[in-house]
Amino acid sequence: MVLKKFARALEEFGTYIDNNASGIVNYGERHRCGERISTGFVESTINQLVAKRFVKKQQMRWTPRGAHLLLQIRVQALNGDLHGVFERWYPGLCRKDSRPLAFHTPNFRVLPNMNKARYTLMCTALALTAVASAAGPSPIPVTDKSFGCISHLKPVRGFFVGSLTGNLAATLKVARSPNGGVYPAGSVIQLVPTEVMVKQPKGFNEITHDWEFFELNASKEGTSINKRGFAEVVNRFGGNCFGCHIKAEPKWDFVCETGHGCDPIPLTEPMLKALQHTDPRCAGSDNVSAEDAAALKQLQELTHPKNPADPKSG
Ligand code: HEC
Repeated sequence: MVLKKFARALEEFGTYIDNNASGIVNYGERHRCGERISTGFVESTINQLVAKRFVKKQQMRWTPRGAHLLLQIRVQALNGDLHGVFERWYPGLCRKDSRPLAFHTPNFRVLPNMNKARYTLMCTALALTAVASAAGPSPIPVTDKSFGCISHLKPVRGFFVGSLTGNLAATLKVARSPNGGVYPAGSVIQLVPTEVMVKQPKGFNEITHDWEFFELNASKEGTSINKRGFAEVVNRFGGNCFGCHIKAEPKWDFVCETGHGCDPIPLTEPMLKALQHTDPRCAGSDNVSAEDAAALKQLQELTHPKNPADPKSG
């Protein structure tokens, strides 16, 4: 009787091992690689991910390198780049006929801990990504030449709009609508000369609702794109464009203005106007009015506060 029970337990254990083979840690290998050995491995992974969200007490920390790598993966997944990057790292791993060639070759060292089921799952996931991006729209090309003097765009309340696809009327319609709406592909929006949002075609990036964020360098010579991208773009003050603009109520399609739900920025209207008037790409931007000069001085103090402990700042 006892033996029978034991046999059943053993069988269940065997099935459990079979079903979970891919998730079981190879402690011998970890040890040889000088890695940490812990039975709480799986739990702590889940704990970590949950705890990071809820800022719970944590038993274990990520190494800076590990966290950095995970973040890179997250960003690439958000940007839809993961498939391409994966292929570059592991060329030919997922073949079109989906026969895992690598598993039959003795020198399959790329992902040694992966079993066949997991491999198939991953290839399926990657293939789906590929299908999604293959079916997705191609981007509207945006280069340095796409941008110029901010006041050549169309003013709407405090900001400026334009269109890279020659459909300014459709962009203006949404910008002027009291009920908001979804900006059409090609829409360009600017508030200050160095930060721009450009709407890419529908389905291009679900996370940012197809907005691509740009940080520009603007000079007399023209524009050069300093940074561009989707959820990861950070402006020169360390602020994440997406992180702020996502807070706008959905009907405003990421446009913050004031009262749309975004946290306010510390720039006053005179400061914004002064920045717009002194866009170096605009003719006559050297003639700075007294009002603009005062606002720019205030802005300067805001971004480079005088240190009271510094004797030179008196
Ligand atoms: C700290 C939060 C924050 C960050 C970071 C931020 N913005 Fe904004 N942005 C705002 C707010 C708030 C407004 C509205 C300000 C106003 O009208 O007074 C705004 C305005 C704009 C506008 C004009 C349309 C609108 O939404 O009102 C554009 C375009 C824009 N930002 C682009 C960017 C880009 C590109 C970046 C990154 C390079 C960026 N922003 C970073 C909060 C932010």
